[in-house]
Amino acid sequence: MTKIFLKNLENVNISQFQRDLIDWFQREQRILPWRENKDPYRVWVSEIMLQQTRVDTVIPYFNNFMAKFPTLNALAEAEEEQVLKAWEGLGYYSRVRNLHKAVKEVKETYAGIVPDNAKEISKLKGVGPYTTGAVLSIAYGVPEPAVDGNVMRVLSRILSIWEDIAKPATRKIFEEAVRELIAKDNPSDFNQALMELGAIICTPTSPSCLLCPVREHCQAFHEGVQAELPVKTKNKKNKKVQLASAVLRTVDGKYLIRKRPSEGLLANLWEFPYFEIDSNYTSAKRQLNDYLQKEYSEDAKLENGAFAKLDHVFSHLTWNIEVYAGEVGGDIPQSETLKLVTEEEMQKYTFPVSNQKMWKHYKEKE
Ligand code: ADE
Repeated sequence: MTKIFLKNLENVNISQFQRDLIDWFQREQRILPWRENKDPYRVWVSEIMLQQTRVDTVIPYFNNFMAKFPTLNALAEAEEEQVLKAWEGLGYYSRVRNLHKAVKEVKETYAGIVPDNAKEISKLKGVGPYTTGAVLSIAYGVPEPAVDGNVMRVLSRILSIWEDIAKPATRKIFEEAVRELIAKDNPSDFNQALMELGAIICTPTSPSCLLCPVREHCQAFHEGVQAELPVKTKNKKNKKVQLASAVLRTVDGKYLIRKRPSEGLLANLWEFPYFEIDSNYTSAKRQLNDYLQKEYSEDAKLENGAFAKLDHVFSHLTWNIEVYAGEVGGDIPQSETLKLVTEEEMQKYTFPVSNQKMWKHYKEKE
């Protein structure tokens, strides 16, 4: 395996490739807020946000996050609820919980200075090989590979690598390739240039080869096979789950919300109560009503008919949600994980996007 790609590397004029790539990046790079300086804290936050999320989506979140938590110490000292709130809508919330734990550790163990070496930084929560390489190379100029799906796509084409990039072991092949290719005198621009090329030129479908600064170095382009690369097997089937959810209001205008468990999907976020429906049993409404009465209050009562039907897609499953409005008594025993809140108080809590959509539909219906 290793032999194949090393052979492909022999076809690359490495110093010319580095120059063409970096010159292009220095001319054409997008102006992005995390490129304003090389503060390792800012680079780190941006790289965590950019995992699984598009640049356009990340920009406003990044700016807001930096306004609220301008320094590593500010983030380390913030309340978890406030930090989650600043991430609300970005998804994959374990990213921010890990980031929060990790910056606390940096504050305590490294006096607030982000480590500048792989051994220490890669021990931090949520800092895998990609984030390690990205922060070290961009902020500290250390020649470490930063290989994500975009970089694998770019390099699979340039080096004609036909390994399946969906397999976790494949990333190592690309990391070895980057170790050979990376510009030791400018790892920051080199790695960012690979990311930038993947984002704006070497895109998944119909790459803009005619605009590509490293077309001459690209083995897939020479062979005309750029559209066939990278090889990426489809992930497993996305499981469908039927849910019924309730926006329950008391007579004095409070709403019942609960906190999700501290582990697993959407951990620690708040939500309107829901129940997973068995569609072979009885109506969704009846199942939800029975559940709410048993779990919360005998007098919970749903209105007829769902006021909204929503689909929410996660990487491994899809929620098909029917949403009901209803009433509940105000005497429910509240706790750390179950609250009756006014509309105004609700703004402090962090909800998954699906619940934000439910609330929007609920307000439109009112
Ligand atoms: N994707 C991942 N990291 C990035 C970065 N630093 N700039 C732009 N896009 C990215």
